Amino acid sequence: MLQSLKHLNSEDISFLQSICPGRCQTQKEILEKYGHDETEDLLYLPEVVLHPTTVDEISSIMKYCNARTIPVTPSGARTGLSGGALPVFGGVALSMERFNQIIEIDEKNLQVTTEPGVITEVLQQAVAEKGLFYPPDPASKGSCFIGGNVAENSGGPKAVKYGVTSDYVLNLEVVLPTGDVIWTGANVLKNATGYNLTQLIVGSEGTLGIITKIVLRLIPHPTHDLLMLVPFRNAEQACEAVAALFQAGITPSGIEFMERDALVWTQDFTKDYTIDVKEDHAAHLLIEVDGFDPEQLMQECEKIMVVIERFDTDELLFAESKAQKDALWSLRRKVGEAVKSQSIYKEEDTVVPRYYLPNLLHAVKSIGKKYGFHSVCYGHAGDGNLHVNIIKGDLTDEQWENELPLAIRELFKEVVRLGGTLSGEHGIGLVQKGYMDIAFSAVSLEIMRSIKKVFDPNGILNPGKVID
Ligand code: LAC
Ligand code: ZN
Repeated sequence: MLQSLKHLNSEDISFLQSICPGRCQTQKEILEKYGHDETEDLLYLPEVVLHPTTVDEISSIMKYCNARTIPVTPSGARTGLSGGALPVFGGVALSMERFNQIIEIDEKNLQVTTEPGVITEVLQQAVAEKGLFYPPDPASKGSCFIGGNVAENSGGPKAVKYGVTSDYVLNLEVVLPTGDVIWTGANVLKNATGYNLTQLIVGSEGTLGIITKIVLRLIPHPTHDLLMLVPFRNAEQACEAVAALFQAGITPSGIEFMERDALVWTQDFTKDYTIDVKEDHAAHLLIEVDGFDPEQLMQECEKIMVVIERFDTDELLFAESKAQKDALWSLRRKVGEAVKSQSIYKEEDTVVPRYYLPNLLHAVKSIGKKYGFHSVCYGHAGDGNLHVNIIKGDLTDEQWENELPLAIRELFKEVVRLGGTLSGEHGIGLVQKGYMDIAFSAVSLEIMRSIKKVFDPNGILNPGKVID
């Protein structure tokens, strides 16, 4: 299928220029900009970058590229961590940046209809002004696009209480690789009408269609929250405490795990040393509760402390002001960037049933010991979702290229054995597709390939991603 994909000739460029006049770019620095996302140090140049402004333009682009078998890679804010937006076969990078309007906030139905190129935090703030809440909040919420969040089924710290992107998507307008435009469902909270095309598109990583409109459900915005940071002397115990909290009937609105290095490296990166990380602090849990009744939140915090006391912890830090809460969250959100600034690294997005989080951490460290790599672990502990950052450090290129994939394979096998899977929120994209056989049987993978063929018979849309 992929062998038949074509490179662009001057006639193609002229045609695409006629569809997107003044919004068709081929300059080297522009191609370089759209040739990378936030995944490691990978760079794959597109041959042209298009900035469509209407659904009709996208439909015309797709019809033309489909007929000519020119690869098209949808491109949002390029904050992805699995290489989903990398134009690995060249061709067109289809930027959704001009689709940046919130179309309607429907206060009567608690819904919002938006274009995909709206920054997630901008959307959150717009609905918050009406007292409404769109909870999914990836670490990159200040720069990522809501369309990318839908394509990747993004999560974030709030997912533990409020769910991930898919829990909020009601309906999508999608341009198919053939140029046809469809709505996937209806703007309703329950829908037992046919196959669920909406949820098939969510998390499909731009391989099935181009999302051009998104209808999301909203909920009332909580009015109060409390935040605490708890230092543990043993990292596996910090992971154990997570399931214990849920078993005690507590549902935090965030429960984030940070290994010692994650916090220390981020302090060095941000130069914010307000947290006193002592010699014997092996890991921290950042725990938030939210709701509408301050007294009830205080009671929940007391319950949390009772559970925490069962473990070997040091004195906890209770955030006393909004500024202190913001600083703690900012530190947490910057861990990924901080690790990236330190070394070449590979990021794994492992997820297991919450109770097995200590087993997962243990496996990461023992596989690391066996293969000689250092790792920095952090993530959404309440979801059993551990971001494992493998550091290149002193590893040779040979070890990095040839031995590390074996180590990752071993780790993923253990993750699946524990009942988990390869990615909780970053997607498969380019960099994890070689491991899909660990998570799925040959039959399941063939079903996925068949679905792809139904949507994209010529394999032009985001080729080289998710499955081969
Ligand atoms: C985070 C991103 C990397 O949780 O998912 O920081
Ligand atoms: Zn994350």
